[in-house]
Parts: sequence; C-alpha cells; structure tokens
Amino acid sequence: MERENWAESISSTSADDAQAMFNKHLATYRKIVGENLMFHREVYGLLHNLLSQEMQKPFKFLDIACGDAVASAAALKGTAIDHYYGIDLSPQSLELARESLKDLPCPIDLQCCDFVEAMTDWSDAVDVVWIGMSLHHLQPEGKVRLMKDVRNTLSRDGLFLIWEPTLLDGESRAGWLDRFSAYRSVWAAITDEEFATMLAHNRLADFPESADGWKAMGHQAGFAHAEQIFMMPNRFGRVFQFRN
Ligand SMILES: C[S@@+](CC[C@H](N)C(=O)[O-])C[C@H]1O[C@@H](n2cnc3c(N)ncnc32)[C@H](O)[C@@H]1O
Repeated sequence: MERENWAESISSTSADDAQAMFNKHLATYRKIVGENLMFHREVYGLLHNLLSQEMQKPFKFLDIACGDAVASAAALKGTAIDHYYGIDLSPQSLELARESLKDLPCPIDLQCCDFVEAMTDWSDAVDVVWIGMSLHHLQPEGKVRLMKDVRNTLSRDGLFLIWEPTLLDGESRAGWLDRFSAYRSVWAAITDEEFATMLAHNRLADFPESADGWKAMGHQAGFAHAEQIFMMPNRFGRVFQFRN
C-alpha cells in the first residue's frame, strides 16, 4: 500500500504504469476500509469517543500517514477540532483527503512528504497525534525515534495514539504473517490478486511489535504512561495511548 515499498516492484515500469499500479493499490485499500475488513469503524469510533470526552477545549490534531482521511474526518466530526494537520507521501491520497476533510470547521494543512523527515523538524505544537497503521513499517530504532519526535511536538497534556499491527504473546513476525495469510476466506470482498499483493506487501514491509514492545518503545521515547486501549476483534492489531 505504501508508495516507497512498491519502489522495487515498479522500478522497471514506466511512470504511467507506476501511477496505474499506485492507483490500483489505493483502490484496494479503499475497498478494504469500505468493507470494514480492518475494523476502521470500531477503531475510528473509539477515536471519536476519546476526542469528544477528553479534548473538550479546542485542540490541534496531527494525522501521521493520513491517507485519504475518510475515517479521520468522520472521527473528528463534532469534536472541538481547531486545526487539522495531515502528512502523507501520496499526492493522490492527499487530494482525496482534502475532499474528505472539507466540512471540518478548522484550517486544514496537508503535507506531501515522508513522515519521518517531516517529524524531525516539526515546529507547530499539537495536542493529539494519531498514527493509523503506518508506524510498523519502521525498524525498532526508527519507531522509537519517531515516537520521540512526536513527544517533542505534543503540548504538555497532549495525547499520542497509535493503531498498529501487534503480535500475540509469544508470536513471531512469521507467525503473525502466517496468521494473516490464513485469513484469505474472511477477506472474500477482495480478489485473490488483491489479497496476494497485500500479503507480498506485508512480508516486505510490515514489522509488528508485541503489545509489551509497543508500550516499552513509548517509555523509551519518554512517555510516562503507555496503555493498550483496544484490540481488533481479529486480534491482528491494537490501539495504544501514550501520555506524559
Ligand atoms: C495503511 S494506510 C493508512 C491510512 C490511514 N491512516 C488509516 O488508518 O487507514 C498507510 C498510509 O501511509 C502512507 N505512508 C506510508 N509510509 C509513509 C511515509 N514514510 N511518509 C508518509 N506517508 C507514508 C501511505 O501513503 C498510506 O496513505
């Protein structure tokens, strides 16, 4: 799904082919979200409830790897959102995000860049940072570095939330990948080709951590509190919150 991870497979194709391939992957992801195969409804519903309950004063929200921001826009509707920042590598996704977010009653800043680079010198203080299904592409040192950069951008009472693939207790990365591949029949809404592409992407680019691992990384980054607040019903991923 991520543009940079397709680089190997698309390096020998023309720019038009590469564009077509990117659009195809984006369409598959939107189908997966539309069918709620990854439980976006529950996860972003949880985000909405959390923001409604805990952020009653106007707050600034940073959506790292926002994609088309359809689910974020729904989660932010009716909250005290005061400023939305979104970062993504994909211009096509950001074009869709601009449309999804247009009814939010606040400024919308969308940045087309690598989030690792963007976060190293991010200067605007924000109150909530959200990462949905993207931090797991980094290696452990990169994950901690990014979490530190997030912590540096957060206001004192700020909230950092991640929704990421998570290993079961005692499970290896290979075990997690096998567990996902055994899910083919449940993901009947996508074609065999789409599922195979997704699996190939997972094998190349997904590096889940255990629940204790995600929490320990948050502590290493300097957060005093790290807590799991949700597990997807299929147990492939979880939501964690970090606070100072
Ligand atoms: C799996 S989608 C997640 C979208 C959305 N956050 C969600 O919860 O459904 C991953 C997104 O991360 C973006 N992405 C991946 N690596 C990135 C990077 N290094 N910098 C910025 N965006 C990146 C991709 O373009 C894609 O839109």
